[in-house]
Amino acid sequence: MISRRDFIKLTATGLALPQFSWAKNSKPAFDYTLVAEEAAVSIIPGTRTPALTFNGRFPAPILRAKQGMPLRVKLINHLQQPTTIHWHGIRLANAMDGVPYLTQPPVQPGESFIYDFVCPDAGTFWYHPHSNSVEQLGKGMVGVLIVEEKDTVDFDHEIILGLKDWHLDKQGQFLPLTDKRHAARMGTLGNLSTVNGKQQPVYEVPAAGAVRVRIVNLDNTRVFNLSLKQELAAQVLAIDGAPVNKPYELTTYALGPGMRVDLGLITPSKEQDIIIYDQKGDFHFEVCKLKTVKSKLKLSGKIPVLPANPFAKLDLARAQTEKFVFEWSGQLSTIADSNKEELFWTINRHGWQCAEMAHIPQPLARLKLGNTYIFELNNITQHVHPIHLHGHIFTVLDSNQKTIQPYQADTVLLDENEKVKIAFVADNPGNWMLHCHIIEHMQTGMMGYISVI
Ligand code: C2O
Ligand code: CU
Repeated sequence: MISRRDFIKLTATGLALPQFSWAKNSKPAFDYTLVAEEAAVSIIPGTRTPALTFNGRFPAPILRAKQGMPLRVKLINHLQQPTTIHWHGIRLANAMDGVPYLTQPPVQPGESFIYDFVCPDAGTFWYHPHSNSVEQLGKGMVGVLIVEEKDTVDFDHEIILGLKDWHLDKQGQFLPLTDKRHAARMGTLGNLSTVNGKQQPVYEVPAAGAVRVRIVNLDNTRVFNLSLKQELAAQVLAIDGAPVNKPYELTTYALGPGMRVDLGLITPSKEQDIIIYDQKGDFHFEVCKLKTVKSKLKLSGKIPVLPANPFAKLDLARAQTEKFVFEWSGQLSTIADSNKEELFWTINRHGWQCAEMAHIPQPLARLKLGNTYIFELNNITQHVHPIHLHGHIFTVLDSNQKTIQPYQADTVLLDENEKVKIAFVADNPGNWMLHCHIIEHMQTGMMGYISVI
């Protein structure tokens, strides 16, 4: 007899889970090795793409950890270039944050580094290098990290959807991942869309079941406007891993690079296809399909409530405001050294390509440990920017363009000319990056860091 858990494991993503141990007293309980290496992977069936990978494959291993418990990952660098791993959205110790020079020396070819930290929050997270990011992320080094709730939350089924576009020709060879004209605008979109490395895959889900769909935007550039189109209602349960205060019905959800959303849905009791779309105006482009199958398993058919993560309470009455202006600065694009990527994008008039350089500039702001801060994020460009802060989860308070029900996140998508206020308690000491997650924007200047002391 197949148990419900086995069913979930077998069918959730079709991926084998990497080795880990549930043994109570072995420390840490979650122990992985990730080898950064070049490997041929098959993205277009019948072709071989010379990718950069974790453990020689795409998708990269899905790492699972448990809230409040240590996670250890040994990174072995078999690439011909330095790398690191950043744990996107995890409130960890600064030394484990994976930003070259800012939080650790880059891991050189042939070297290894052990990341060892506790995940205080449950939810859907991900990991990627913070080094030569256009290439390393663009060629495949992106993976999902799931932190299970401390007290198990029971869905009937779970699906993980890792969205990534590729820049490939028909033979599976890489096309340029970036060009200056696009880098200075919305970024260079890929030409081949995949979900978990497959084009428009179909996943079976039990009929009349409560399904958790964890959607992770692993792409360097693309913003998805996720929708379901048909009558079937999906609930938005969590954003960037953090459960929303009150689940609400999905209309469309703008998922920028780096962002995640957890949806909950009760599948129809009859056999039916549920299509997840990327909606552009009136047009719906299929991302992937869930297909209900009759299940003999005992299903709850009820979407459980996700417990809130343990964030410090905001003290808005005494909060100090810091302003950040995101801007395009053409005048910076004439830097002499033609080997360097040009700087077009700035935060408060500064452009930085830190991750490539040992030289660390001044922080964008210095925050006092334990105080609440409001960040006013002001996008004065004609392009959208998903702005990500490391090491903290913030509350999105309001926007000059739309009504916001405050919610927690680690990345906020700023629309054209949008000004958004976020707030958080600076309770994690260290130097934490603040940057755009459109990777070409980041690598051409839209990045900086704040210092919490
Ligand atoms: Cu996904 Cu600096 O982050
Ligand atoms: Cu940007």
